[in-house]
Amino acid sequence: MDKVIALLQDEMQAVEAQFKKNLASDVELVSQVGEYILSSGGKRIRPMLLLLSARLCNYQGDKHVELASVVEFIHTATLLHDDVVDSADLRRGNRSANSVWGNQASVLVGDFLFAKSFSVMVGSESLKILKILSDTTTHMAEGEILQLLNTCDLEVDETRYLQVVRDKTAILIAAACQVGGVLAGASAEQEDALREFGLEIGTAFQLMDDALDYVAEQADFGKEKGHDLAEGKMTLPLIHAYANADAGDREQVARIIEAEELAAEDLESICALIERTDGINYTRAKAVERIEHAKQRLAIFPDNEARQALFTLADYVVSRNK
Ligand code: IPE
Ligand code: IPE
Ligand code: MG
Ligand code: MG
Repeated sequence: MDKVIALLQDEMQAVEAQFKKNLASDVELVSQVGEYILSSGGKRIRPMLLLLSARLCNYQGDKHVELASVVEFIHTATLLHDDVVDSADLRRGNRSANSVWGNQASVLVGDFLFAKSFSVMVGSESLKILKILSDTTTHMAEGEILQLLNTCDLEVDETRYLQVVRDKTAILIAAACQVGGVLAGASAEQEDALREFGLEIGTAFQLMDDALDYVAEQADFGKEKGHDLAEGKMTLPLIHAYANADAGDREQVARIIEAEELAAEDLESICALIERTDGINYTRAKAVERIEHAKQRLAIFPDNEARQALFTLADYVVSRNK
């Protein structure tokens, strides 16, 4: 990844400067909360994907920096909202914005980031890009709502889970890749390939996030361990464990997922069940499969520095611990 970061250093610096411009507001709380979250060490996967996709298609213009800032702003807005919905106290190893400023400020600053994203997007003067990104935010909202409806529902299977993953996470990552291509005037075939690449790595990204929620060290991951279970979220490690559990274990899962509070020993029992049923390896294998498909999608492009960097990013998705 260091090589990719070095390759994009100048452009990402410009993107960071663009964040500051986007955050300008007469209302101090907007820049305060916005700067807090934006400077807290996000991995910047989405803007990097947009920049690399534009480079892959030989983009020569100057709109890529603004659009890279837009995809990160959309992502950040959803994180502000998501942490309220998920009652999360920790984000990127720091207190979440909602735990510092409260739910109301988080929701409203999230709204500001969304609104700002759309006004910067208009500057691209491309109705096509506007359509891709507005469809994206619609899907993301649907994904979060579907997930809410799936809460504590033990009938959620892999298909229903993957629908949520696609909507809430993969579609934004796909849009980042596609928009890079659209900017550069890519052919329909190239544009589709980039979008499919993004959908595959975006799905793998959420699968890994859901595995890491059970197994990552909090110091690396920056989020509370077992938080998905505490929130009643049906994610793949648990879905797989439940599908392969005996009647006694199933009853225990039902009791634990519906409990108001998650006791430490209950988290341990679920982790042990996931271990016995190989739920983490199962999830990881599904993610790795997606990464292989993703790479195949880029076979139509020449093997150059940008494509190699996209492959490195794809591999990072399944090797990351944060
Ligand atoms: C977190 O995304 C939300 C998910 C889609 C899993 P990232 O892991 O990209 O978050 P940051 O921006 O790097 O913190
Ligand atoms: C991804 O879901 C959230 C968004 C797409 C906004 P999660 O709820 O798993 O993300 P984290 O774990 O809080 O980062
Ligand atoms: Mg969350
Ligand atoms: Mg998560």
